[in-house]
Amino acid sequence: MTDALNVTGLRAGYGEGDILRGIGLALPEGKVVTIIGPNGSGKSTLIKTLAGLLPVRQGEIVLRGKNVNTLSPPGRVKAGLSYVPQEYNVFRNLTVLENLKIAQEFMTVGGAVRGSKAISDELIELFPELPSKFKALAGNLSGGQRQMLAFACTLTVWPAVLMLDEPSAGLSPKYMADIFDTVKKVNGKGVSVLMIEQNAIEALRISDTCIVMANGQVRMTAPAGEVLGMKDLHSLYLGDVKEEAA
Ligand SMILES: Nc1ncnc2c1ncn2[C@@H]1O[C@H](COP(=O)(O)OP(=O)(O)O)[C@@H](O)[C@H]1O
Ligand SMILES: [Mg+2]
Repeated sequence: MTDALNVTGLRAGYGEGDILRGIGLALPEGKVVTIIGPNGSGKSTLIKTLAGLLPVRQGEIVLRGKNVNTLSPPGRVKAGLSYVPQEYNVFRNLTVLENLKIAQEFMTVGGAVRGSKAISDELIELFPELPSKFKALAGNLSGGQRQMLAFACTLTVWPAVLMLDEPSAGLSPKYMADIFDTVKKVNGKGVSVLMIEQNAIEALRISDTCIVMANGQVRMTAPAGEVLGMKDLHSLYLGDVKEEAA
């Protein structure tokens, strides 16, 4: 079967020199792939390049069999690739409902709105806390609520592939559990998920595959269950990455 997302030989960066130095990965349809790796290893750069915020210098990004290298960020969203950024992912001076409506409007420009309601019942089912906060300013939400809102904004348009950049960063254990629970539920609806996480153990519990990145390259790809069983998991993602035998 064609992968939901397939990346080969990807190189990208900000100025001179590449940060991503030949990334290859596959996200099979319906699966959850989690990327772990030390700070500065290029995880966010990878996801930004996949979302179209940074140009591809070399390599291929293929979404459901179609090369999307040259599509704009909105073009990629329309093609089914959605992204929840790590930071600055909501408008703090707008209400929760305004954030959701703006997200939906932006992402459906020229396309069809799903269903007749501004905010679908399906979305409310996934984020039951949201309606009571519709009138609250996003800036007044807790970190966990804000992360849920950013997540919900991305899902106002149902993607084929959902990319999340450290969705549980800085959250309380309760919100962390809620976020991963919601990711799993979204995945259960057929959405393939590519997630970056520092909370490796919690993330890998809901993942099929684990990718370890270091220094702009993929160091290891393995079944999530296998990585969870490794005694040196922490040293793996905190920086002490063992070179794999070639
Ligand atoms: N906007 C930017 N301009 C220039 N360099 C950047 C920018 N964002 C990140 N970098 C650099 O790219 C490298 C990888 O960063 P990043 O992708 O954010 O890593 P990670 O998400 O794995 O922590 C770092 O050396 C960082 O300093
Ligand atoms: Mg990052």
